[in-house]
Amino acid sequence: MKLKQLVIPMTKYIKTFLLTNNMKFTKADIIKNIEKKIQKLIKLGKTKEALKFRHFHSQEDMRDDFYNKLFMWGYAKDKSEREKLFKEAKEIAGKIPELKGWPSNARKFWDIQSYGWSGKIPKEIRLFIKKELGVLKGKNLSLGCGSYPYVEDSVLLDFSSEMLKSAKGSKKVVHDLEEKKLPFKDDSFDSVTMVFVADYIKNLRNLFQEIRRVLNKDGRLMIVQSKKPIDDFYRMHEKKHLVGVDLKKILANFGVDVEEKKVGNRVLVFVEAKKLTFINKRR
Ligand SMILES: C[S@@+](CC[C@H](N)C(=O)[O-])C[C@H]1O[C@@H](n2cnc3c(N)ncnc32)[C@H](O)[C@@H]1O
Repeated sequence: MKLKQLVIPMTKYIKTFLLTNNMKFTKADIIKNIEKKIQKLIKLGKTKEALKFRHFHSQEDMRDDFYNKLFMWGYAKDKSEREKLFKEAKEIAGKIPELKGWPSNARKFWDIQSYGWSGKIPKEIRLFIKKELGVLKGKNLSLGCGSYPYVEDSVLLDFSSEMLKSAKGSKKVVHDLEEKKLPFKDDSFDSVTMVFVADYIKNLRNLFQEIRRVLNKDGRLMIVQSKKPIDDFYRMHEKKHLVGVDLKKILANFGVDVEEKKVGNRVLVFVEAKKLTFINKRR
């Protein structure tokens, strides 16, 4: 355990350092380093530990390679380099049991994205949304919250248990938003928030009905979307890129307000619907 804690983070650190400084790391260097450590353990008579470490490292090494490919994807110079990295990452994922299903399985995809998720959306955007949603009072339900709840003390819901693991909060619910029912009683929340989530949900109409059901009579729904996709990489699980106008159409039977707000060079779309005016005329 100590070895894992000390050596692996060190090799990860070296790799990340080399990558972020645009230096090429050679895998051979890292393997040489690991081998040296294994030899040292053997010299100390710790053969069992050395063998365990080698086995652990071969898997861990592949896992590192996988994450490095994803990391480098963000810095690739063109489409063909991105495709190459993606293909290589997919091949590695097929060999590691815990990565099986990546990237086609949506839940697995987001589990993997959970690694350092909070930092993947610029801080100024996070803080802006946090401030805007700060007006909400009472019990909030955060749908598809990932690892970043914008509203304190919310009930956090996501289908990725890995995302939820790193989210700050005590009330966490693992649930797929494509399911027919939300796992809550009628009239149980003062607000429901959905930030950068609507694009990934196929059955939005059903979800909106359910949101209406779980909101109390003065409750409101707040949806935040980015006008431009937040990152091309996540688009592979997008059902449709929705902006305010599309959401307005989907929510046409409900009373909605749509407002665009600029944060730096990004335009955010805030959609707000109140339960009282949130009437489904098609019933
Ligand atoms: C782009 S991330 C946004 C996360 C968070 N709201 C934020 O702003 O950082 C999309 C989130 O939606 C979740 N998600 C996608 N499809 C889902 C589904 N069908 N059911 C529940 N959660 C889902 C993902 O796991 C992920 O955490």
